[in-house]
Amino acid sequence: MTKSKTVFLNGVYLPIEQATISVMDRGFLFGDGVYEVIPVYTGSLFRLDGHFERLENSLALTQIGNPYSREQWRELIMPLIDNTKDQYIYMQITRGAAEKRDHAFPVGVKPSVFMMCNDIAPFEAKDAGVKAVSVEDNRWSLCNIKAIALLGNILLRQQAVENNCAEAILVREGYVTEGAASNVFAVVDGVLITPPKNNAILGGITRDVILELAKANRIPYAEDILSLDALKTASEIWLASSTREILPVIELDGDLVAGGRVGRLWQAMNGLFQNYKIAYAEEHKNS
Ligand SMILES: Cc1ncc(COP(=O)(O)O)c(C=O)c1O
Repeated sequence: MTKSKTVFLNGVYLPIEQATISVMDRGFLFGDGVYEVIPVYTGSLFRLDGHFERLENSLALTQIGNPYSREQWRELIMPLIDNTKDQYIYMQITRGAAEKRDHAFPVGVKPSVFMMCNDIAPFEAKDAGVKAVSVEDNRWSLCNIKAIALLGNILLRQQAVENNCAEAILVREGYVTEGAASNVFAVVDGVLITPPKNNAILGGITRDVILELAKANRIPYAEDILSLDALKTASEIWLASSTREILPVIELDGDLVAGGRVGRLWQAMNGLFQNYKIAYAEEHKNS
């Protein structure tokens, strides 16, 4: 029999089967909560401060109290990790369980905290590239909050799945925002472009790393608006996220991107990213 996974729920570590919450939890009733996903490479939390900063921002924007300091969070996360594997921590904070179902914030309710650690499954198609489809971004205008209410993103991703694609590239009024669960990069006229950080996108931590690596390695880049028309002329398109890392797109809306081959800049950036991950894990081993 396989050993049951241990998770963290409201101050207690327990087997996942025993982790239950109240049906009055506002995460369950309203999707009233926020979350983070932090990669852990061989026991070392990747870009932890960036993830904490984004979590603090999500909590502040939703006016949910932060139950722990960064140091406390880190200490609570560590027992969930298996040092021998590449994993990711999922952490979720909801506004908590109130007595009544009422849209208004309940008074005197403690946030609910849930954390689990899962293995990062290698994304099979990564080296060969993936297909993407462009769809209208019909989500709300607070996409900078990493909200657990993901119905908009789920419906959009499903459109990709039904089109036999790995991701939906979202377009608002003719301009690319992001993927259903990723940020978008394109190489247009030799410049690596990604839409700027604002409330139309979730500012990804992987996105930050790619931009830093581009700068350090003198790869021309810009945080700039990107029209769907420009995307269709791109010599490379990438998707970036913590669990899939950097994925090359070789087909968009049924048309091949750069002849359907993985681009040279992706190969270079993916190499830089893999080296950075290893160096970062080594440097932050015991911190
Ligand atoms: C909507 C959305 N945008 C961007 C990202 C990429 O963020 P990160 O690189 O921090 O994983 C994600 C990650 O899940 C996402 O859900």
